[in-house]
Amino acid sequence: MTRNLIDFVDITHKEFDELYRLCADIMKKPDKYKNVCVGKVLANLFYEPSTRTNLSFRTAMYKLGGSVIGFSDPGSSSVAKGESLKDTIVMMSNYADLIVIRNPMEGAARAASLYSRVPVINAGDGGHLHPTQTLADLTTIRMHTGGIKNLNVGICGDLMNGRTVHSLIKALSGFPDIRFYFISPRELKIPDYIRYFLDSNKQKYIEITSLEATVSSLDVLYMTRIQRERFDSESEYERHRHAYILTSGKLSDAKSSLLIMHPLPRVDEISVDVDNDPRALYFAQARYGMYIRMALIMTMLKNAPAEPRETEVGGAACVNPRCVSMFEKYLPNLTYEREGRVFCEYCDKEI
Ligand code: CP
Repeated sequence: MTRNLIDFVDITHKEFDELYRLCADIMKKPDKYKNVCVGKVLANLFYEPSTRTNLSFRTAMYKLGGSVIGFSDPGSSSVAKGESLKDTIVMMSNYADLIVIRNPMEGAARAASLYSRVPVINAGDGGHLHPTQTLADLTTIRMHTGGIKNLNVGICGDLMNGRTVHSLIKALSGFPDIRFYFISPRELKIPDYIRYFLDSNKQKYIEITSLEATVSSLDVLYMTRIQRERFDSESEYERHRHAYILTSGKLSDAKSSLLIMHPLPRVDEISVDVDNDPRALYFAQARYGMYIRMALIMTMLKNAPAEPRETEVGGAACVNPRCVSMFEKYLPNLTYEREGRVFCEYCDKEI
């Protein structure tokens, strides 16, 4: 398996298959795994609020017999005194065997990986990516369908800023016969780099604004929150916050086999009257998230120690105001090229 998990595409299908099988075995025989990480330390660095990702990683490591250090509030660490991301990561890789990082800057996990001597896992970088949520999502789909193929997948809500959405789209595009229905307000459609990814992979998708018009066709409905923390103003958020509310009534024509998913937290985009619907899987999805993270921790700890990449030379500077390279000025400009177009390696914005 790859050394870091920054983007879901860092994992091959074979590796996901191995993680899934390990996850299923852990769920069946948890006692077999209770000492496999004794003596190992996980650093959980959360610069943004989290319930599921932070606490499921912590619980996963404890259930494997390991220990956890880190912070849930950067204000309680030397970040509050101005310590850079680089220095924090260099320190943490002195102490821990594995680093999990959530940060509001897009590309922060990629940047962290340049300076770490231990594997880095992206637990959410701004509105960019969230690959371990995708592990939980794919585990849920596979557990409840038997295989990830031939599915009409509706993804509804803030598709511009929803990092779980971006990682899920990239991941599902690699499976056979997936057809996407992107349901969002016009101003919150998928970002350009995801559109480019889909188009260059010849992936089928349609973009619509009505949830009601499409729900009966779907095999998976993935609801998401309007991402309040990514808007420039409260009034802009208020304009969109009630855009979609899934209720029992709206599910009357839906398939009996529909999987209703949500990465959580929800605000009001799924009414509580849906919670008792047997098709509602969002709480189970969070539970699978803990088990697949146990499998991920075990697998990544087997990796060889990392070589920091900080001496790499870069290309053009990124123009995205939310990119980590705008804030952490010592970072090299890193780019990649696809079909003659140049993208920032941290945040994937086209330059
Ligand atoms: N799904 C998810 O990332 O939840 P948290 O923000 O609570 O970690």
